Amino acid sequence: MQRRALALKREGRVIGFVPTMGFLHEGHLSLMRIARERCDLLVASIFVNPAQFGPNEDLEAYPRDFERDQALCEKEGVDILFFPEAGTMYAENPSVWIDEESLSTVLCGAARPGHFRGVCTVVAKLFNLVLPDIAVFGEKDAQQLRIIERMVRDLDFPVKIIRGPIVREADGLAMSSRNKYLSVQERQDALCLRRALETASELYRNGERQADALLGAMLEIIEAVPSAEVDYLEIVDDGTLQPIVNVDNGALIALAVRMGSTRLIDNEGLENV
Ligand code: PAF
Repeated sequence: MQRRALALKREGRVIGFVPTMGFLHEGHLSLMRIARERCDLLVASIFVNPAQFGPNEDLEAYPRDFERDQALCEKEGVDILFFPEAGTMYAENPSVWIDEESLSTVLCGAARPGHFRGVCTVVAKLFNLVLPDIAVFGEKDAQQLRIIERMVRDLDFPVKIIRGPIVREADGLAMSSRNKYLSVQERQDALCLRRALETASELYRNGERQADALLGAMLEIIEAVPSAEVDYLEIVDDGTLQPIVNVDNGALIALAVRMGSTRLIDNEGLENV
């Protein structure tokens, strides 16, 4: 991959990159379309990265369908599909990792220790292999996106990070490969995430600026659903990801909710409301 990327760069090609863990859905495809418009050679990767899964997480169960993914990538005009094996991606006993020390201590980082260390390290490795000029990451993983932007800034990666908007199902559920785990009932119940975000946005539009009031209204909606268990629900500063009290200058609402054994995340920027 790196040899090819070096040759392509010598030819002056602009490389666009969309890293994924596969089991592609419309959300991933939208990122590919965004990248496609801004590059003349599009690389997508599929790699279920063991380093970002905790010991009791769903690494083994993570949904995979390589043939379908390959066909979708072809359809989206992906020029190179990079799908390394775990044994090739990592040296035998790797001892160098990338640890982001601020943004990754909160939200998903607090709930999933080591997760963002795995994400940063694999994304840095992928950047070193693919040598992209631009890379597109989805807003659905808002914390991941901000951490990658910080990594690029702090470690001087010559990559422009582009944010791709969240893509939702017709009924509002944010697209995620993990939605596949949901039972019919849980899939229905999972709409409480969107309902909660919409309610907070509406209250905000109507002038509510107290984070406590917005969070209280959201909690009420989610707690009314028996199969839903809040992992975190926070209103944070969009830059620092630290909780805020008064939402005067916009903010990010971020939540993670367990529906049965499936953990779903979603978010909404209040400044956009
Ligand atoms: O968002 C994902 O799918 C993964 O975290 C990523 C960025 C491909 C790194 O493994």
